[in-house]
Amino acid sequence: MGLTIGVDVGGTKIAAGVVDENGTILARTRVPTPADPQWAVGAIADAVKELRKGHEVTAVGIGAPGYVDAGRSTVLMAPNIDWENEPLKQRVEDLVELPAVVENDANSAAWGEFRFGAAAQHQDMIMVTVGTGIGGGIVIQGRMHRGFFGVAGEIGHMKMVPDGLPCGCGTRGCWEQYGSGRALRRYGREMAAADPERGARLLELNEGVAETITGSQITQAAGEGDPMALEVYERLADWLGRGMADLAALFDPAVFVLGGGVSDSGKLLLDPVAKAFEKHLVGGVHRPKAEVVLASLGSAAGIIGAADLARQ
Ligand code: BGC
Ligand code: NA
Ligand code: ZN
Repeated sequence: MGLTIGVDVGGTKIAAGVVDENGTILARTRVPTPADPQWAVGAIADAVKELRKGHEVTAVGIGAPGYVDAGRSTVLMAPNIDWENEPLKQRVEDLVELPAVVENDANSAAWGEFRFGAAAQHQDMIMVTVGTGIGGGIVIQGRMHRGFFGVAGEIGHMKMVPDGLPCGCGTRGCWEQYGSGRALRRYGREMAAADPERGARLLELNEGVAETITGSQITQAAGEGDPMALEVYERLADWLGRGMADLAALFDPAVFVLGGGVSDSGKLLLDPVAKAFEKHLVGGVHRPKAEVVLASLGSAAGIIGAADLARQ
């Protein structure tokens, strides 16, 4: 199989690329995700058709932000976009007349990093994507761990807090309510509102309004060394490290790869997460510790991984 197309469906944008067997992207496109998920299928098909014009491609891999069935065909549910039992494979195949497979978005990113990125030296890795939600991809002994029903690696909905915050999945207390980009924003807003004096820099960046402080404002302030913004990152990181310690107990990976939009902040996220992970990991100095690294393919990991999984 020569070239394939990988599609990464996100809450705000659909990114796609033509990818060769070495994981190199030869052409890329991106469109905003339509508000109505019915139209998302059309947008995916348009992106594929556009990319196909210049390249001979044999298959399409689509990374979707939700529970995907074992047949790699249907999005059973997507907590952060409005898809339920969406027969994505069939609908896209009908529109583009190419074989398609549907993969979970974080599984796709994990596969990209495992094959061509930060975990290429390892056989056992876990990808944690920190964005709107938390996504996970688990590679064990060189194979994607899909589980019996296809929905393994849904780490964002581990129950971290009994009767905690409501989640887009319909239950409460999920990890992604405490360790995602949304949580980062919430911590910034809450902390600045509670202590405007210490929150002065965050408030200044948002014209004095705590309730609408954004993730990028928090990142900017943290980058400047603002103590409250750094504390916001630490709070997020503590939750991430806590969940990763549990994942290490279960799967014992060689490496955790941090990806997703929030990981664009680089060391601001990586350093406190690595520290929190060590703090929460059971076994202390008597136990070897998985490395914690940043995704090296950045936002392209999902495209590259989905394209490669379309070959398998
Ligand atoms: C979904 C996952 C997805 C993750 C990141 C979670 O809410 O359940 O399927 O991988 O968000 O998009
Ligand atoms: Na996953
Ligand atoms: Zn949930």
